[in-house]
Amino acid sequence: MTNLSFPNEFIWGTASSSYQIEGAWNEDGKGPSIWDTFTHIPGRITNNETGDVAIDHYHRWKEDIQLMADLGLKAYRFSTSWPRIFPEGRGKVNLKGVDFYDRLIDELLRKKIEPFLCLYHWDLPQTMQDQGGWPVREIAYYFGDYARLMSEKYSDRVKNWITHNEPFVTAGAGYFLGEHAPGIKEPLAAIKAIHHLLLSHGLATQAIQSASRQPVNVGVVLNLSPIHPATNGKKDIEAARRFDIIQNRAFLDPLLLGTSPIAEMKLLNRLVGSVIKPGDLELINRLDFLGVNYYSRTVIKHDPKFPIFATSQVHPIGNEYSGMWEIYPEGLNEILVNIWENYSHRMKSPQTLPMMMVTENGIPVPDGFDFDGKIRDVRRIRYLEQHIFQVYKAIQKGVPVKGYFVWSLMDNFEWAQGYEKRFGLVYVDFKTQKRTIKESGFWFADVVKDNGLITHFE
Ligand code: FCB
Repeated sequence: MTNLSFPNEFIWGTASSSYQIEGAWNEDGKGPSIWDTFTHIPGRITNNETGDVAIDHYHRWKEDIQLMADLGLKAYRFSTSWPRIFPEGRGKVNLKGVDFYDRLIDELLRKKIEPFLCLYHWDLPQTMQDQGGWPVREIAYYFGDYARLMSEKYSDRVKNWITHNEPFVTAGAGYFLGEHAPGIKEPLAAIKAIHHLLLSHGLATQAIQSASRQPVNVGVVLNLSPIHPATNGKKDIEAARRFDIIQNRAFLDPLLLGTSPIAEMKLLNRLVGSVIKPGDLELINRLDFLGVNYYSRTVIKHDPKFPIFATSQVHPIGNEYSGMWEIYPEGLNEILVNIWENYSHRMKSPQTLPMMMVTENGIPVPDGFDFDGKIRDVRRIRYLEQHIFQVYKAIQKGVPVKGYFVWSLMDNFEWAQGYEKRFGLVYVDFKTQKRTIKESGFWFADVVKDNGLITHFE
């Protein structure tokens, strides 16, 4: 038995995102996002499902905040929908959209739940995509303008800001693989998108800070993962190094060090080196906190068929899997400790890494009701316990992890997989919108109350 007692002030919360929960896709003046367009194209999403209604959070926000309060949660990470604020991405502001988040923030604070506001969780205004989307540099500047307005409106109350959620996925799934909106399959566009997403982080951070009415923290959320070679062969080890550059270092280096690893890959450098303009890296190199989303590790083999990177992912046989990924809790510890060890001493100023938080961690489970109306999602409880244990171990080694957010508070629209994958601590009946707290919800409430837990893991 180990007593996992967390530092005072450790932040326990849950995370969500606008498109996955809000619904009301065309209500109260909201403009269309690329996800509205994408999900309305038959064949893109499992069962052709959409986020048109999602879990109706736009109308049920008060009830949902009450759920968080009932569970004693200390923080809530949510995202704002850019096209709900600027229906056309820029220009005219939709005041009804502004009011929605105003009410949400006020209610959270009334319930003593700290808001963590994320400006971008993938729902780009369609008008911005019509101008080319993230592969186009101007979009970064429009994002900066959106960030400024949001800071003017909410920074009197919101202290923690996140510019982007998982820019690797925005670029990779949206512009390289085409599995997410806008459904484009152009490797070069994706690589340009990465740089413009990073640039937009820098511009937005500047804008938030300069318009803010109190000292605020501005961070970014990355999906980081230890990259393991499939075998000890030289080619696989080299492939893993390339994948580490594109998934992890392409973001960590510019954000934390103000450098770019692109030059280390000759082909990449030749193709997109000129996208990075003088001054860009200095602008990107600003961060008050680093959010780490962790679900699994990535095992990579050499694969010449895959464009530019010549890598592909393998799924080791004999390991444990969830409905989406391998279950590999040690990877969370590995990534947190690696970032700490590899980056902290190389940073110019401040000398230490910004604080870190686990901003998403969770598992899809095909939950259902037992005969007595309870939802005993023991796999989820075990998964969360295993991962919280790894966070604890990282803190013991001196890594400054300040918080942990479960993905997600409620079951919701899981992107290309529609409503098939349930991640919530709270079950949602998608027909009636009835919410039911799962056993994992009650379990997590105890973790929050006790600021830790007693585990049999050693
Ligand atoms: C992450 C996303 C989040 C959710 C989880 C399962 O990559 O940020 O929206 O879909 O995966």
